[in-house]
Amino acid sequence: MRKKIIAGNWKMNMTYEEGQKLTSEIVQMAKDENLEGVTLVLNPPFPHLYVVKKLIGGTSNIFVGAQNCSDKESGAYTGEVSAPILASFGVDYVIIGHSERREYFKESNELLATKVKQALAAGLTPIFCCGESLDIREAGTHEPNVKYQLTDSLFDLSAEEISKVVIAYEPIWAIGTGKTATAEQAQEMHYALRKHLASKYGKEVANSISILYGGSMKPSNAAELLSKPDVDGGLIGGASLKSRDFIDIAKSY
Ligand code: G3H
Repeated sequence: MRKKIIAGNWKMNMTYEEGQKLTSEIVQMAKDENLEGVTLVLNPPFPHLYVVKKLIGGTSNIFVGAQNCSDKESGAYTGEVSAPILASFGVDYVIIGHSERREYFKESNELLATKVKQALAAGLTPIFCCGESLDIREAGTHEPNVKYQLTDSLFDLSAEEISKVVIAYEPIWAIGTGKTATAEQAQEMHYALRKHLASKYGKEVANSISILYGGSMKPSNAAELLSKPDVDGGLIGGASLKSRDFIDIAKSY
């Protein structure tokens, strides 16, 4: 049985008070509405991590994640945050290779491979993002394009290591646009990625890896996307900033 994961990526949003309120509401709703079967991950900006972790307390199905980590372990890299520092603050997950990092901060597949290794070495679960641009989708080369992102950043890992990675497929044209991939498009890509993983690591490993969908997921479309056999959860941007929407997405399972 693969883990069902609903992860909220707050991106560069939420003040201290807003983040506390959102987290407290999510923790309470998850308890009241019996969401134990779904793993929830809150990925706030760095300064929130410690407090969000405290607010989650002992709630067993809610975890905290960062949105990025350094490719270096430690040292004179002003402004960077390493995976071991995150782990020492009780952080559980880290998003790596979000398309916004790839586009605005020019993060390459090679750099992301190093970040994934840093995260794993520190005991964090990487949520590795991949996805194609609209041009590539329209050219019909999306499948090889996204498979290549996996090959280039993940296929140096051992079977044991890759089993600890969560993958998030996020078509760039669907991020923050209100334009969601259809459930069929998502399933098609998730299936292709799982087959690709199986070609390198075997079926058993591929079948154990959770592949999340991200891109304008909201309460009104979550049930259909999450009903697909290879869609194991969601990486939610905009809708993760409202407790009711975030919880309703998790309840769509
Ligand atoms: O990390 C989350 C994704 O970029 C999706 O964002 O739900 O606002 O489209 P969105």
